[in-house]
Order: sequence, then structure tokens, then C-alpha cells
Amino acid sequence: MEARTLHAHELDPHRPNPARMYDYYLGGFHNFEADREAAEAAESAFPGVRAAARANRDFVRRAVRYLVGEGIDQFLDLGSGVPTAGNVHEVAQALNPDARVVYVDAEPVVVHAGEALLANNDRARILHADIRHAEAVLGASEVEQLLRLDRPLGLIMASVLPHIPDCDDPDTLVARYVAALAPGSYLVLSHGSIDDYNAAETGEVYDVYRAATSPITSRPAARLTAWFDGLDLVEPGVVVVTHWHPERGDVPAKLRIAHHGGVARVPWRPAAR
Ligand SMILES: C[S@@+](CC[C@H](N)C(=O)[O-])C[C@H]1O[C@@H](n2cnc3c(N)ncnc32)[C@H](O)[C@@H]1O
Repeated sequence: MEARTLHAHELDPHRPNPARMYDYYLGGFHNFEADREAAEAAESAFPGVRAAARANRDFVRRAVRYLVGEGIDQFLDLGSGVPTAGNVHEVAQALNPDARVVYVDAEPVVVHAGEALLANNDRARILHADIRHAEAVLGASEVEQLLRLDRPLGLIMASVLPHIPDCDDPDTLVARYVAALAPGSYLVLSHGSIDDYNAAETGEVYDVYRAATSPITSRPAARLTAWFDGLDLVEPGVVVVTHWHPERGDVPAKLRIAHHGGVARVPWRPAAR
């Protein structure tokens, strides 16, 4: 199957979109008034949504720095969001100028902004595709030209699986991508678990997202841990993102919203006889 092509006419600036709301939480400007209003409504329904988004992005940056330190020089970032300042390619290429990155996102505004940002970077591209079509993504020309799947790679699925409902089988999706990774690769995953804290208070946040172009699903940390089955979890395992290799100054002390993350390595497997 071809990677799904999405067109600008699919963009509705009057309907809040979670990707653009997320961009607003991060302080970006790739969002419309409807996105900003919905983001503020979610934040006032349950203050802490914005802090969780920022803490998640900080986690991704720390994970990328860790992976580069482990020798990873190529990244596939699924559901990347707008690759604004401090994103994967900047963090990785600051440490290793030869690092290569392919971003994948389904949101036209994200892809449009990404193409502009990456126009002068021949080692980073953004692919406009739906990550639910794993074969199409893995076989896309951007991936084939920039990445080598037979070498260790950093696969990032940060805060994208809340956008994949259970009816789309996220378990099989994660397993399909992990199966394509060479030994020595890493999986970086994060996911919101709003219910862990206070379901009553957070109900209104879900209402805001239900009215958006796609609802979000909250899942407990145990579900996230299961996605790492068969991989070697890097210490401290699956934790609230602010607790994963914290660095002073870049994260709030405590999140009201449980947003979990973890990093794991694909083990070397004995060669088949
Ligand atoms: C909450 S943002 C996370 C951005 C980034 N990964 C991070 O952690 O900072 C989720 C992103 O996933 C994208 N997304 C959601 N569902 C997707 C799908 N089925 N295929 C590709 N991208 C998707 C959205 O457009 C959005 O940009």
C-alpha cells in the first residue's frame, strides 16, 4: 500500500485539532484560533495539560540525547508534531552532525511547517502519512533514502498512541514497527494516563478533545510497559516522564497529569541456524 497522501483541503481551521493544540501548548505558532480556544478550555478544565505537553517534549529531547550517546545516528519519529526548535533533528545533529531523521505526521499543518523548516537540511525529512499504515511508512521513499533499517535506529512514538484508539489495535502496530528494527535499536515511547490521577476532574478535558478532529485515549502505565515486552528497558523503566533521566531546569517538579515514558533497546538475537 502507498503511504496515505493527505491534502490541504482536509485541513479545517475552524475545528480544533489535537496536533495544533499541542503546538500551542508548546508555545508554537502553527495553530488557529479554534485550536487555541480549545487548548485553553482543556487547560482551564484541568490545569496541567500544558505542563504535561512540555514535560513530554523535554522527555523526548533527553531520550534523543541518551540515544546519540549510545551511538544511535538515525531516527524515525512517528507522530512527530511540528519539528520546532529543540526537536529531534536539532538535538541529534547538535551532538552528531551526520545524524539522520525522518519525521512522520498525518496533520497537514505539521507537515507543511516541517517541510519549510527542513528545506535546507539534507539529513532530515518529514513524511506525510498515517502511521497506522506501518508497511507504507517503512517502505516510503523518504525512509529508504535517509535511513537504513538493517542498522540500529531510534524509533520514537512519543504521545502519538493516545491518538490511536483500541479499535485500531495499537498493540499490533507497536509490535509491527519494533519487528522492523535491527538489534541495538531503541524504542522511545510516551503516553498520557490522565485517569490515573483524577477521572472526575479530567472528564471535561476529554470532552474538549472529543469535539476535536480526533479524540484521545488515556491508558494506564501498565499498557505502556507491555509495549516494551521482549526489549531491554533502560533504567529507570517506565516512569512519569519528569523522572526519566531528569536534568535540572527543564521540567516542572510535579505533574498533575500522569504522563509516562520509557526507553528500551532491541536485544541482539542469536543468529538463526
Ligand atoms: C501530541 S502530538 C506529539 C508530538 C511529538 N511526538 C511529541 O511527543 O512532542 C501527536 C502528534 O501525532 C500526530 N498523529 C496523530 N495520529 C497520527 C497518525 N495516525 N499518523 C500520523 N501522525 C499522527 C498528530 O498529528 C500530532 O502531531
